This record gives sequence, structure tokens and C-alpha cells, in this order.
Amino acid sequence: MSRAVVATAYGGPEVLSVLDVEVPAPGPGEVLLDVRAAGVNPIDWKSYSGAFGTDPTRLPIRLGHEVAGVVVAVGPGVDDTPVGDEVIATGVGGGYAELVLVPAARVVAKPAQVSWAEASGLLLTGGTAVHTLEATGVGPGDVVLVHGASGSVGRFVVQRARLRGAQVVATASEATHADLRALGTVPVTYGPGLADRVRDAAGALGPVTVAIDTVGTGEALDVSVELVANRSRIATIAGFGRAGEPGIQLLGAGPGTDPGTAIRAAAVRQLVELAADGLLRVKVARTYPLEDAAQAHRDSIAGHARGKLVLLP
Ligand SMILES: NC(=O)c1ccc[n+]([C@@H]2O[C@H](COP(=O)([O-])OP(=O)(O)OC[C@H]3O[C@@H](n4cnc5c(N)ncnc54)[C@H](OP(=O)(O)O)[C@@H]3O)[C@@H](O)[C@H]2O)c1
Repeated sequence: MSRAVVATAYGGPEVLSVLDVEVPAPGPGEVLLDVRAAGVNPIDWKSYSGAFGTDPTRLPIRLGHEVAGVVVAVGPGVDDTPVGDEVIATGVGGGYAELVLVPAARVVAKPAQVSWAEASGLLLTGGTAVHTLEATGVGPGDVVLVHGASGSVGRFVVQRARLRGAQVVATASEATHADLRALGTVPVTYGPGLADRVRDAAGALGPVTVAIDTVGTGEALDVSVELVANRSRIATIAGFGRAGEPGIQLLGAGPGTDPGTAIRAAAVRQLVELAADGLLRVKVARTYPLEDAAQAHRDSIAGHARGKLVLLP
């Protein structure tokens, strides 16, 4: 048995419970992980919010797409992931738990230098960030406007854009600006007048050539369209309501979007290596015991966590 967080109905975080669930032995190609940390992502609370429909046959919904943990059992045919390995995995079903079954193909070794909490926040947001940069072709000479740069995806977009030789203008609330400056960006506050502030901030760097939106507000998309001449170099991971906007790339899961499956899968090893070398840092804002998953989700929904929220089962 394992304690696990489930949504027993559609609604807000009040529908979450911690239940005892059966844990089958690993099947062919599967490993069983003792979860040390489970990363919280907005997709987790969106899954039971009704944003993707309210099909009653999907209930109860197990939560948690990414974890870091120790292999405690392996199924038939798993030769290269022995019991005792410390690993990270994304694309997991039900990671908010003490134990979770994961396809062995989805696990990768956890770098010893990276903590459990940091490791559990590396792959989902990191893979998304790489996808945005690949899709928009960011490289040396680019001036990239990143909306939501203080968020989990945004911080990775910023760090990877700088590693690719681009300059970054980063939108975020004032309290995060010193941190974003330390990452080599020019931070600006979002809100009315944003386009002019971005123009001023970009000043000596040159015109904005790429915009990456991790927020999804009308403001972020409007300013992107106003400032970036080539619309194919504007990408959003959150503003899917603007699907009709000609030329803006919609990245992730959903109708009319590019899932970037191959790019995200290929990014995994590269993200782990960069994190091991200290070139990519996961900022953990807060940790919670499994019982406080609902509070973690309230904090995520509030939209200003300023780092990863992590459950420690
Ligand atoms: N399509 C995909 O593949 C994919 C993958 C991962 C995530 N996502 C989506 O991407 C979004 C961000 O995820 P995340 O994990 O990075 O979330 P997060 O860590 O909670 O970050 C939220 C960000 O939004 C900013 N923000 C909040 N209100 C804002 C406003 N009114 N205007 C501008 N910025 C505002 C915050 O800035 P301050 O705190 O500085 O105010 C913060 O930078 C979510 O909607 C998530 O579902 C999509």
C-alpha cells in the first residue's frame, strides 16, 4: 500500500484527499520508485479544475507528473535501472505518493549534486523551456522577451536563452528583479505601459526579435505581437485562447498545439547534465508534506510562488 493524493471530484483544492492505494508489482518494463520529492505543476490542479472537462468516469484522479526517488523494485526486462538507483522521472501518472510505478524508459539518473526537491522540479518545466527556445530558434544576437520570467518555466527559459547567447528582457513582479538581474536579464514590471517599458529596457540591446509567453494574458500576447516583427518567433505555452492569432506558435498539449514530444524527450539528458554542472539551477520556493497538497495547490493557483513548490512524501 502507499499513501497517495487523489482528486475525488472536480473543483478546487478542497477536493483533494490522501488515501491508501494498492501498489501492484512492477510489470514488464516498469520500475517502482520510493518517491522522495514530487514537483507541483499547474497542470496538476488544472486536471481536476474542470479546465479540461468534467468527465465523471475519470474520477478519482491521481496527481503528480514528475518525481525524484529511489528504485525499490524492477519488472521483467528492466536491465539498466537496478534497485537502489536514485532517479528522476517526468510523464509520471500519480507521483504525489509514497510509491509510484513508472516506465523504466522515463527515468534518468539523478545527479548527486542536485537535491531531491530540486531534481523533482527539473524535467517538466525544463523540457517545456527547451521546446519554446527550439520552436522560436533562439540563438546569439537575439533579444528575447520572456513573459513570466520569475515562474518555474520562465526561469528555465531565461537561463537556457542566456546559455544560447541571447539577451533577455524579463517580465516579472518587482520583488523578483534582483534575482532576474543575477541571471543576466533586464527585468521589467508587467502591467499597463508594458510595451514602452520593454522598448526602453531593450534599448541598447536592439529590437526584440523573439517573445516567449509563459503567462497567457492578453497583455503578454498583445505586447509580443506589437514588438516582434516575425510572428513565427512568438510562442505561448499558456495563452491558448488566442489560437486564432495568425502565426503565434501554441506549444504543449491541446487542439492545434505543437506537443514537441521529440524535442522535450531529447532535452532530458541535456537538462540533467547542465544541472549536474551547476549551469541550470532549480529554485525551490517551498516544500510541503503530502497531507498539505491542497495548500501547495492554493499557493500554485495564486500564481506568485516564485520557484518550485514540492511535496515531500
Ligand atoms: N504548454 C505546456 O507545455 C506547459 C508546460 C508547463 C507549464 N505550462 C503552463 O505555463 C504556465 C506557467 O507555469 P509555471 O509552472 O511556470 O507557473 P508558476 O511557476 O506558477 O509561474 C507563474 C508566473 O506567472 C507570473 N504572473 C502571475 N500573474 C501575472 C500577470 N497578471 N501578468 C504577468 N505575469 C504574471 C508570475 O510572476 P510574478 O510572481 O513575478 O508576479 C510567475 O512568473 C501555467 O499556466 C502552466 O499550466 C504549460
